Amino acid sequence: MSFHKYHEKVQEGDTVILYLGYENMHAIQIKRGAVFQTKYGALKHNDIIGTIYGSRVHCPKGYLYVLYPTPELWTSNLPHRTQILYSTDISVVSLQLDLKPGAVVVESGTGSASLSHAIIRSILPDGHLYTFEFHKERAQKAEEEFKDHGLSEYVTVTHKDVCQFGFDLEDVADAVFLDLPVPWDALPSAKKALKKQGGRICSFSPCIEQVQKTCACLDELGFEEISTMECLVRNYDVRTINLPNPEFSKEKSKSQPTDTRKMEQEDMDTDSPKGDDSVKCEESADTNSKACDVKDKNQSGDVLDVPSWDYIGRKSDANFTFKSGISLGRMPGHTGYLTFATLYPL
Ligand SMILES: C[S@@+](CC[C@H](N)C(=O)[O-])C[C@H]1O[C@@H](n2cnc3c(N)ncnc32)[C@H](O)[C@@H]1O
Repeated sequence: MSFHKYHEKVQEGDTVILYLGYENMHAIQIKRGAVFQTKYGALKHNDIIGTIYGSRVHCPKGYLYVLYPTPELWTSNLPHRTQILYSTDISVVSLQLDLKPGAVVVESGTGSASLSHAIIRSILPDGHLYTFEFHKERAQKAEEEFKDHGLSEYVTVTHKDVCQFGFDLEDVADAVFLDLPVPWDALPSAKKALKKQGGRICSFSPCIEQVQKTCACLDELGFEEISTMECLVRNYDVRTINLPNPEFSKEKSKSQPTDTRKMEQEDMDTDSPKGDDSVKCEESADTNSKACDVKDKNQSGDVLDVPSWDYIGRKSDANFTFKSGISLGRMPGHTGYLTFATLYPL
């Protein structure tokens, strides 16, 4: 099969994605006579051969969908031989390295080839990826996968320690990507691999100390526009928020107690790690007072009949109710820092 040349029906030898749910997918290679066990019972490969990609296939106790693989689906389902880059970071890398059809890219280490698949998709049909891995079995496995996925002609896998022996490439690459424990050792050789007309480089490191050392080395080697970023997925809860209409009369505002400290504390509490009920209060236009109101929701998302009230204790008849996205107080999901730099022509 070929990841990049779509065909309509499942054939023997194809790598397909079995979709049982967002959190339940499997990548399998179709072999005549083979059987794959799912939570809905046994799935015979023979029953999938010839079906149209995207169609529903029935198992003894349920059904699933057969999907054509994309780099994103492959990243979510590939066999892990190492830590991998996920689609969130990959999207930033692809953009910042300016990957496009025809680009030549150098990468190390190959690892589980999660990023490699995405790079190849971006540089097709006339670009090339040179990927380097010093672990022999990982290099071999990646090569086999590229062959199975019909990508061999776009990638060269080399089994090599790039920190010790370098890439042995000169004036060929538009971009270099490093996912190595000691990236600074590979930087002089990476610089040599970049085209004389210049190019972009990226180094992925989980720790800030590695980032600092990489940045210092990039600077010494004459790279410019050095910048480090972290890309995190931010989830939002959809909430129904009920704001009382503000009171603008001076008389009312004088009579209002201005215990804002208490309200600020309440704000902070709602921003607590639990995060579920975090709703920022709106500051009213002419007073120090803040007022906000969150209607409770049941599991199905319906608004429950909670009486409307504000923090200064008055019942309010005229309210403004709206839906809003509320971000959680904390954003877990650190994988690493991406350091980018540009090499300009001399
Ligand atoms: C975290 S993995 C890379 C994962 C890859 N980016 C992916 O998305 O699947 C790092 C890889 O670098 C390889 N490696 C470490 N030092 C190396 C070196 N000096 N030369 C070549 N490969 C190296 C390791 O064997 C490992 O497979």
